[in-house]
Amino acid sequence: MTDAIRTIGPAEARARAGGRLGRRRLEHCGRVADLAAHYAALHGASPDDARVVGWLHDLCRDLSDDQALAAAARWGVPVGPLERSHPVGLLHAPVAAAELRAAGLDERLARAVEVHTVGAAGMDTLAKCVYLADFCEPERDFDGLGKVRRLADASLDEAVAAAARLTLLDVIGRERGVHPGALALYNEYYGAR
Ligand SMILES: [Fe+2]
Ligand SMILES: [Fe+2]
Repeated sequence: MTDAIRTIGPAEARARAGGRLGRRRLEHCGRVADLAAHYAALHGASPDDARVVGWLHDLCRDLSDDQALAAAARWGVPVGPLERSHPVGLLHAPVAAAELRAAGLDERLARAVEVHTVGAAGMDTLAKCVYLADFCEPERDFDGLGKVRRLADASLDEAVAAAARLTLLDVIGRERGVHPGALALYNEYYGAR
């Protein structure tokens, strides 16, 4: 992929995702794009940027585990024990970000793609809107989500904090490893209490 996409708009992002993803995944990306744009309009980010990231965030989600590991090697994305246990689940975001950066996508948008799965400390408003939209999109359904959805319209940070907390509780409840990004995000909100 060599065509520059620095100025990509939502329609082109949708077409790019459509060339890579199955119908159900693409529909998920559309719901994330819509909700991320809604949060962006409420909380002071660009709705168009949020839509672009929404369409692109899962660009590499349909890779196999082996393909995700190969893409990580190609782009120099670090692979630790956690990534090796859940390759596509944990690598699809950084691998997509690396590919999109190389294609010229604006760094802020690429960063929002990169951190959408587990989060990170220091996310900007755009990245928070996408993280939250992926968490809250209308087809999701799990305990505690209603509270996060209600918070999301009022306070972006309170909603992200609640989502980060729920994520950690879930991961620990399933006796799985905690990603450093997820822990850093949690500690950003709860670490000084
Ligand atoms: Fe994802
Ligand atoms: Fe997603």
